[in-house]
Amino acid sequence: MSLDQSAQNQTPQPLPGLHVAVIMDGNGRWAQNRGWPRLVGHRKGAERVRELVNACPDLGIRYLTLYAFSTENWKRSTEEIMGLMSLFARYIKREAGRMNSEGVRMRVIGDRSRLAPKLRALFDWIETETEANDRMFLTVAINYGGRDEIRRAVQAVARDVASGALTPDAVSDTLLSGYLDTSALPDPDLVVRTSGETRVSNFLLWQAAYSEYVFTPVLWPDFSPETMRLILDAYRQRERRFGGVTP
Ligand code: IPE
Ligand code: IPE
Ligand code: MG
Repeated sequence: MSLDQSAQNQTPQPLPGLHVAVIMDGNGRWAQNRGWPRLVGHRKGAERVRELVNACPDLGIRYLTLYAFSTENWKRSTEEIMGLMSLFARYIKREAGRMNSEGVRMRVIGDRSRLAPKLRALFDWIETETEANDRMFLTVAINYGGRDEIRRAVQAVARDVASGALTPDAVSDTLLSGYLDTSALPDPDLVVRTSGETRVSNFLLWQAAYSEYVFTPVLWPDFSPETMRLILDAYRQRERRFGGVTP
């Protein structure tokens, strides 16, 4: 097989552009600091998402991936979980029109099987509704965990090996990436975490192997496009060596 032919058999290459992933943390503390219920912080956080998505083209961000609900967040109260789920639904319904007019393609990553059928249907709907857009790619991680995603990918690979569709030797990094929820996305260039916590909390474990990290003390409900602009300025000063040496 020629090189050209083998390239055609691979997942389509993502379009060029900066990929920023954000662990949006600190909503609960932001609200509690003011004596308000945690959900008020989440509501404020959703407004910050809207602003940031709209600012992305100006900031030079082509791909924005947001961690909204982790596989560990089920440990929270039913009230908080239900409140978050209805915020996700409300965001999609309210923003669908604007996403289409701004050329935003939205996708949801994570394991949907544990989510309510109505919410799953809404995710399917917005993904289809915006699938022709390619100015910006918004990916929201809901019931997402990096380990869970890798486990699901490995199970799918194992099934394909068992059925004879794949040989064990064909399993490469690129092939495994194609089995992940993020198969259509480039790896993140930058991962930002707000709220001062300096951990990864199970986010994009495979994809962020060579990402730059920025940890900011700003709580997510206080995060603005200007905060992101300053972070990007700092990111652009960094030298990414990918294991090599400075020429
Ligand atoms: C938002 O911040 C992240 C979500 C899980 C939705 P938190 O709710 O974790 O806020 P803190 O960390 O308790 O302040
Ligand atoms: C990470 O924040 C998950 C999301 C932002 C959705 P958490 O608040 O759940 O993480 P931990 O518990 O501080 O590690
Ligand atoms: Mg938190």
